[in-house]
Amino acid sequence: MPTRDTTTPHTTTGGPGHVAVIMDGNGRWAQQRGRPRLFGHHAGAKRVREIVRACPDHDVKYLTIFAFSTENWKRTQTEVSGLMALFRRYIMREARDLFDEGVRVRFIGDRVKLDEKLVRLMDNLELLTAGNDRVHLTIALNYGGRDEVTRAAQRLAFEVEQGRLSYKDVDAETLAKFLDTRFLPDPDLVIRTSGEARISNFLLWQSAYAEYEFIDTLWPDFTAQVFADVLAGYGKRERRFGAVLA
Ligand code: FPP
Repeated sequence: MPTRDTTTPHTTTGGPGHVAVIMDGNGRWAQQRGRPRLFGHHAGAKRVREIVRACPDHDVKYLTIFAFSTENWKRTQTEVSGLMALFRRYIMREARDLFDEGVRVRFIGDRVKLDEKLVRLMDNLELLTAGNDRVHLTIALNYGGRDEVTRAAQRLAFEVEQGRLSYKDVDAETLAKFLDTRFLPDPDLVIRTSGEARISNFLLWQSAYAEYEFIDTLWPDFTAQVFADVLAGYGKRERRFGAVLA
């Protein structure tokens, strides 16, 4: 598992190795243009492509994006099925380029509620790109932080019940190994677009020491230049992880 020092205070030198993004504002972007919400999601998908490709320029090795939350099922049937179709199409269209560009794609979230065809595409894309290491793209799909911790706790309890683990072994490090994100370092920076200052159940455990940037730009307007500007701001921050800098 990749390791990152999250205990020693330091000023940020260079960029964040792991950026997580809450891609908000697609609906409003479409409404401002008198178009249906799905039009905004399609425009948002194009930005995903652009931002993934910009990561190596900024030494961002890990990019984690919030595509669909455990709460998003409450949206209209039209929007939910349109989004699911968009995810399927995105995987089919982008798989080849992602592979060629050295992107390793993984998904986090509960797959049980997702349709079979989508899950098959997700599994295949993970398999296809498993040998890549240039950029690690993690897509959160039917993901919720509380749901993830609950599922991890269930699996841990099962291990204890089976006698493979003692309750005394349960510490933060052990729990983290049962999370969907066990293969990821913690995020250094979490960006949320569209002017909302909430974390909406995203990477609750993992973001304990992350820096946050809440920016007004709507996701479909989040260009590679806006990304570069946000990363430049991050470089000026001082990270203390609860300690005092010498
Ligand atoms: C939030 O905006 C966005 C979503 C719930 C969907 C995010 C999906 C994409 C960006 C599509 C592409 C993703 C991939 C991985 C291909 P919102 O609809 O809540 O916006 P609003 O707050 O303006 O209504």
